[in-house]
Amino acid sequence: MYRTHTCGELRAQHTNTTVTLAGWVQTIRKFGSITFTDLRDRYGITQLLFNEALNARLDAQPLGREYVIQVTGKVVERSNKNAKIPTGDIEIEVTDFTIINVAATPPFTIEEETDGGDELRMKYRYLDLRRPTLRRNMELRYKVNRSVRNYLDSQGFWDIETPFLIRSTPEGARDFVVPSRMNEGQYYALPQSPQTFKQLLMVSGYDRYYQIVKCFRDEDLRADRQPEFTQVDCEMSFVEQEDILNTFEGLFKHVFYDVKGVSITEAFPRMTWDDAMWHYGNDKPDIRFEMKIANLKTPVGGTSFDFGGGKEGVVFPVFANAESVLAISVPGCSEYTRKQVDELTEWVKRPQIGMSGLVYIRINADGSCKSSVDKFFDEVKLKEIATACHASPGDLILLLAGAETRTRKAMSELRLEMGNRLGLRNPDVYKPLWVIDFPLLEHDEEANRWVARHHPFTSPKPEHIEWMNDLSKYADIKANAYDIVLNGTEIGGGSIRIFRRDLQEKMFAALGMSKEEAQDKFGFLMGAFEYGAPPHGGIAFGFDRLCALLGGQESIRDYIAFPKNNSGRDVMLDAPSGIDDNQKKELGLN
Ligand code: AMO
Repeated sequence: MYRTHTCGELRAQHTNTTVTLAGWVQTIRKFGSITFTDLRDRYGITQLLFNEALNARLDAQPLGREYVIQVTGKVVERSNKNAKIPTGDIEIEVTDFTIINVAATPPFTIEEETDGGDELRMKYRYLDLRRPTLRRNMELRYKVNRSVRNYLDSQGFWDIETPFLIRSTPEGARDFVVPSRMNEGQYYALPQSPQTFKQLLMVSGYDRYYQIVKCFRDEDLRADRQPEFTQVDCEMSFVEQEDILNTFEGLFKHVFYDVKGVSITEAFPRMTWDDAMWHYGNDKPDIRFEMKIANLKTPVGGTSFDFGGGKEGVVFPVFANAESVLAISVPGCSEYTRKQVDELTEWVKRPQIGMSGLVYIRINADGSCKSSVDKFFDEVKLKEIATACHASPGDLILLLAGAETRTRKAMSELRLEMGNRLGLRNPDVYKPLWVIDFPLLEHDEEANRWVARHHPFTSPKPEHIEWMNDLSKYADIKANAYDIVLNGTEIGGGSIRIFRRDLQEKMFAALGMSKEEAQDKFGFLMGAFEYGAPPHGGIAFGFDRLCALLGGQESIRDYIAFPKNNSGRDVMLDAPSGIDDNQKKELGLN
């Protein structure tokens, strides 16, 4: 028997029992003729005491960091207790030990905080995973997984596997492809999601499906994106949008409570996509704080603040010539120093934000205004602007002007940045919301064509179907599509699906696909719709993102046991890699 207890198990009540433990040597501290060692396993850390008699053996067989050892000894109460760890009341007076396996010196410290850089940690991921931080993340991930399964099981969902070697599923990214040996010159695609399969399972009558499943997308990577990631993928039959929102709101409430002890009793707020863009500048608003955008001048929606009539005959060309002028009123920042404002100006000028400048108006405590555009606007005009921005004394109004899309995006980023600077984005606060009524289509400027905003299987609002015949109406068609957003991150998205062949054909036509192409690529699905397809809809959650947010982090990487780096490489395996000529020949590749 390797052990009687784990390294996280022993307490004062075990005093005087003889135990055997096995684990990794975390630290070795020698004090004269005695040696203290911390022994670590997944469950915790226990202090070992090697007395004088054993020290001679230790001299002959020295221990090293990360050695795997087995010790037998007596549990004794510690004179010097450590309240920070659950086993801190006791230690083991070792009577015998065995070195089970030696270890090379680890390339970084295996502690809560490590001195290892990202790439080094990824290369030795199995060592990084020994660190308590990562171990807690993996435990959290497992708990979220179990909690999700329990809830969906209680709601009658069946977990059904779907294939990985398939044909393309359009989710807006590039496919990873796999050459086929048996069908030379032909390729499978890895699923960007199981979208079409779950719809087919509804046609099969399975009613409620889910899967915690890998998805593969060849796209530019960011902190919250990996080329292979995990979805909680779900589909239901005979449902309307309302049924889906209610079912999955229930799932989130269950998971928040189960995993974090956070009880959310009220319904999640719902915001239309139009409102989200208008007030927050993006479709995944962080509603932990207000600071809504004031739309002073925009090409859509008909708002136009009159910036004229300020100082005698002077026009502020930046606002006069801009398509859009947007503002936020930042509470309590009117006393920002010149240096702070200059630094913010540099911040909006960075290429990622891409604005040419920033205008500010301070609203002093007495209500008077001081701005960077005093040359153009008198006090009366500045106050009018302040009123339009719902600003209060003590606020700092920040204004951006330029082309609509860029300015709105920049303002959204600036709002989040100010939220960060003011500490308004507390990771322990959970503010989920539904964003609903997404546009069905979106114009891809580069390719100069219309693409599906969600995916081509999403149904338009019934009252907008006829607009699909009128190109000038395309931008206005709304879909029965929804996203769930948590603290400014899109953690899930879904829709009510098209389930009739004629509408699906219409949708493919709107996307510029010929009848033949649609039949070639999606004939299997449209064919299935001819054999009694029920109305259905569903949703998929980013499982890695959900775990990271529940762990209080934005980056998903440390919630995945073996992630890829930012260039999509597995630095531990050194993949992707070349393949040998024989293999290439078999696959018919040059
Ligand atoms: P969608 O493409 O919105 O929907 O994906 C669902 C959720 O998956 C997460 N996600 C990612 N997480 C990590 N890395 C990535 N590269 C990545 N891409 C997406 C996001 C996202 O909200 N088939 C549809 C769902 C449906 O309609 O039912 C789909 O895949 O959190």
